[in-house]
Amino acid sequence: MTVDPTTETTADTDRRAKAATRQAWALGDYHRFAKETVWQVGPVLVAACGIGPGQRVLDVAAGTGNTAIRAAQAGAQVVASDLTPENFEAGRREAAAQGVELEWAEADAEALPFPDGDFDVVTSSFGAIFAPHHQAVADEMLRVCRPGGTIGILAFTPEGLISDFFGALVPYMSPPPPGALPPPLWGSEEHVRELFGNRAESLDMTRGEYVERADTPHAYREFFKQTFGPVVATYASLSDQPDRVEALDRDFLEFATRFNRGAPDGPAEYPYEYLLVIARKRGAEKRG
Ligand SMILES: C[S@@+](CC[C@H](N)C(=O)[O-])C[C@H]1O[C@@H](n2cnc3c(N)ncnc32)[C@H](O)[C@@H]1O
Repeated sequence: MTVDPTTETTADTDRRAKAATRQAWALGDYHRFAKETVWQVGPVLVAACGIGPGQRVLDVAAGTGNTAIRAAQAGAQVVASDLTPENFEAGRREAAAQGVELEWAEADAEALPFPDGDFDVVTSSFGAIFAPHHQAVADEMLRVCRPGGTIGILAFTPEGLISDFFGALVPYMSPPPPGALPPPLWGSEEHVRELFGNRAESLDMTRGEYVERADTPHAYREFFKQTFGPVVATYASLSDQPDRVEALDRDFLEFATRFNRGAPDGPAEYPYEYLLVIARKRGAEKRG
């Protein structure tokens, strides 16, 4: 698509960026990716939010249901929402295999199509952090949560491995829309405090870690190239530039080799630090 930068509005740019984001996350095989990586952490968020029977839960940027399916297994009535409905079919299959049913809804985390105070708990595991406008996301998660309800977020920390991962990839990716903040900023306690202000009655933040594994650093890179949409999209965008593809291959392998924490004869291991945020929304909402 050809875009005339002199006539395009910010809203147009944003819409175009969201469409590209959706297209990217629909590539590869997100469910296969998630099952071998972040799937181990969904239950941590569900437990920390105290999700149980009788609660109405919204999972934002749910992917194929890492947190949403676990919330349903805990007995809650769950809506799994995401910008990329192309991944819902895999989520529905996983939910059926686990013997639970949930509702799946296409939704941008920055403009949630739900009424004020509709949910007891609003969650997002490594998902809402990818929306470009962090304040809009925090505002929306607060808005759809009932007064006194819980908001739970899992975010990669800026000090953790995710920054090195992005450091290798970003030079090859399309630039983010103007005003976009980087996803790992959600892993900064100070940033989260600013986003929620005094609209949260309490804000508990703890750091944790989970480990991704592959047979070798080379296998780790190939796994991302096959399954992880944004990486698949980045390689696809370079398909007519073999030199750039070669350079990205080299940089990705260099990252995977340098940060491998596994034993020399064992599988390659990548520990990712995350921030677990649990916010309680004030009973009577205040701006701050
Ligand atoms: C790393 S995946 C996390 C998915 C899931 N929460 C999990 O734990 O496996 C990131 C997800 O964010 C979604 N996403 C990106 N930007 C979004 C936005 N603006 N609104 C809603 N979802 C978005 C993507 O479609 C993708 O499913």
